[in-house]
Amino acid sequence: MNNCLKEVKEKFVEEFKEQPLLVRAPGRVNLIGEHTDYNNGFVLPAAINKAIYLAVSKREDDKIHLISLDLNQEYITSLTAIEKNDKHWTLYILGVVLQLQDHGYKVGGFNCVFCGDIPLGAGLSSSAALECGVGFSLNELFGLNINKINLAKYAQRAENQFVGVKCGIMDQFASMMGKKNQVIKLDCQTMQYEYNPLKMDGIQIVLFDTNVEHSLASSEYNTRRAQCEAGVKMIKEKYPEINSLRDATIEMLNEMVLPKDELIYRRCKYVVEENIRLLTGCEDLQKGDVTSFGKKMFATHEGLSRDYEVSCKELDFLIDSVKDNPNVLGARMMGGGFGGCTINLIKEDAIDDLVKTISEKYLSATNKKPKVYIAKIEDGVSLV
Ligand code: GLA
Repeated sequence: MNNCLKEVKEKFVEEFKEQPLLVRAPGRVNLIGEHTDYNNGFVLPAAINKAIYLAVSKREDDKIHLISLDLNQEYITSLTAIEKNDKHWTLYILGVVLQLQDHGYKVGGFNCVFCGDIPLGAGLSSSAALECGVGFSLNELFGLNINKINLAKYAQRAENQFVGVKCGIMDQFASMMGKKNQVIKLDCQTMQYEYNPLKMDGIQIVLFDTNVEHSLASSEYNTRRAQCEAGVKMIKEKYPEINSLRDATIEMLNEMVLPKDELIYRRCKYVVEENIRLLTGCEDLQKGDVTSFGKKMFATHEGLSRDYEVSCKELDFLIDSVKDNPNVLGARMMGGGFGGCTINLIKEDAIDDLVKTISEKYLSATNKKPKVYIAKIEDGVSLV
């Protein structure tokens, strides 16, 4: 049994003297398609073998009793007194309760003990996992009959409205809808999605964690989103039918944005190019051409670093260190940016040596030890 699962179960029984409902909510990786979700574009995420485990039960009264084992903190409130507070982790939970209430669902009081092995601030979406785990748990406990896609949307809105990060739908969708050994190609405009088996014989997904917490992430994230919207507005002056960067072309950007604002131009150009990379990258994967796919990942990193400017020196260092290594087919920073992990496609038999050299190089360059995770693709949120 997973350690976290065991711990939440034991703590729950000790604290509440009853057997809980147990839920697993995973983090995610994204192979390609970064900062495209809130631009109505495409993403290619998958749920992984790192997760938050929740033990939950209904209460007789209207209290909400929360215990975070990782932080060793407790918070108690009631259904009618939900408010922002200085225990930041509670916002991901309470935000979901508010969303359900706002949408007319009858949620009662509940207990929740949780613990996870998704590293925090590493860009593996521990926040989305928590939101999704809570939405899923409440849906089960109170028989709300909400489908998983709508649960993912409520989870995203909780983060947008209560936490204040204007994230797209990718993380919550991946955590909810993930399927073992499959990546999800999601069209964030139509919400159509398909599962594609990830055929990469002899290659593993390796994550190098910079150990830099992405503290700038939420403010800069919201700025990027606004910059993309500003670009769309400029395009609309001549092409009113364009509602998002999903439908914009480089020609439109050259004509309508570049003459006005070079910074906004670079932001928008990255997004338009990234959507193209994703679509052609999916064709590569279908053909089993991991080499071509990997090259696109390096190009994505270049764009995120130079044009979108959401990288940092530690992430760039990790990418530079593997760029010319024939055992690394592709690599790039992953997620919102400013820290967190790089995602690398590495030949299996080269992993041990490579991890050793990169870790040493990284330590002497930055004085930080990178953490390394091998990501396996797993199912989305479920009962345990
Ligand atoms: C964060 C957000 C996602 C997505 C990525 C960047 O993980 O939560 O919605 O925008 O950044 O691709």
